Order: sequence, then structure tokens, then C-alpha cells
Amino acid sequence: MKGMPAEEWTTAEHVHRYLGRADEYPRRTEGESVLLERVPRDARRILDLGTGDGRLLALLRIDRHGMLGVGLDFSEPMLAAALKRFAGDERIELVTQDLAEPLPELGRFDAVVSSMAIHHLEHERKRSLYGEVFDLLEPGGVFANFEHVASPTHRLHLAFFEAIGEPLEHEDPSDRLLDVETQLAWLRELGFDDVDCYWKWLEMALLIGIKPAEVG
Ligand SMILES: C[S@@+](CC[C@H](N)C(=O)[O-])C[C@H]1O[C@@H](n2cnc3c(N)ncnc32)[C@H](O)[C@@H]1O
Repeated sequence: MKGMPAEEWTTAEHVHRYLGRADEYPRRTEGESVLLERVPRDARRILDLGTGDGRLLALLRIDRHGMLGVGLDFSEPMLAAALKRFAGDERIELVTQDLAEPLPELGRFDAVVSSMAIHHLEHERKRSLYGEVFDLLEPGGVFANFEHVASPTHRLHLAFFEAIGEPLEHEDPSDRLLDVETQLAWLRELGFDDVDCYWKWLEMALLIGIKPAEVG
């Protein structure tokens, strides 16, 4: 299964459907605002994994004027939307990258963020990606993953889809949801500090870890 793309994201129809309602997910801005609080204002280089149309980078750059953002995604229609959003902004670089593959050489980052993207990867790849994120971070750097996570029961999974106003048939075929606890345990095992779920509402969660200032 390694390298299998989340194919629906390569189609304009799926991308435009998502972008058309990206602002409508209940509580989304609440979770995003906690993420924004946790990324230092003086973070200079910020990497966004599965950036889509650059939603998170655009929010981050509002009060981080010195920041240089790098957005990775493999979806042409998404990257076209991001290019349009950031046209003429030399502080933002967009890179075509399948996250199922190892990350390319990108330099070090003060923060690595992601929103609703990593859950499309196989569990094994999620874990190895978290390890690559650790290596990419500067000491003291923050990893903040605003993520679609698994519910503990099918009933709660149904409740989430009802709460976001989506029929279950609209679930992304490439969703590979994973529970919060497993992902927090991985981050701790990888050496991240202050690992916790900083915000959660049903299947939307903000998982954060800090790379220790001194890696022992
Ligand atoms: C739900 S959208 C989120 C986009 C954006 N981060 C946001 O918060 O609006 C999921 C994103 O993950 C990207 N994605 C999914 N699988 C990917 C993969 N294997 N490699 C790179 N990007 C991927 C999709 O192309 C899409 O842009």
C-alpha cells in the first residue's frame, strides 16, 4: 500500500467540494486558533504538510510578518488554488510532494504544521513521517497537527458525520483515521516533549509536540 495516492484529492471536483465548505466545519476555527497560539510569533521557517490551498499558512502569516512558509501537497488543483492565493508573495514556497514518500531535503524549520492531511496516509507512514518531522525541526521547534482522528466507537463516528452535516457516504475513500492516544504515544517515543492533545471536538483534534531544546 506504500505510495498509494489519496486519489480523490487529484480531482478538481473533490477539491472544489472541500474548498467550498472548508469554512463550514463546526468548531474548526476554534481548533485552528489554539494552533495559532502555540506557534511562536517569531517562528521564521514554517512547513505545512498537505497544505491544500494554503489555508493554514495564510492564517499563520497574518501576525508573523517575518515568516517563510513552505507548503507541500501532491494535488495539482489544490496547489493551483494555493498559487493563486499566494500570488506575488515571495515568503511562501509551494512544493509538489507525495507525503507517502520520504520528505525531500528542505532545511530546518522552527515549526511544522499540518491540517486535516496526515490521516490520509497509512499508519506506518504516519509514524515515519512524524520521525522525519522531528529531524526537520530546530531544537525547541513545535510540531502542530490539527487532524481528523478516529472515534473510539462507530456510534461516535456516525455522530461526528452528523455533526458536520455530511452523509457517511461522503467520507473520503482515503481516510485512514487513527486514535489520538496511539499518535501521542508515537510522538513521545520519537522524543517530542510536552506532547498532548491541546484541543479536541469529536473527530477533530490538535496534537502537539515540542522538540527538546537539547536533544539528549
Ligand atoms: C482535507 S484537505 C486539507 C487541506 C488544508 N491543509 C486545509 O486545512 O484546508 C487534505 C489535503 O491533504 C492532501 N493530501 C492527501 N494525501 C496526500 C499525500 N499523500 N501527499 C500530499 N498531500 C496529500 C490533499 O491533497 C489535500 O490538500
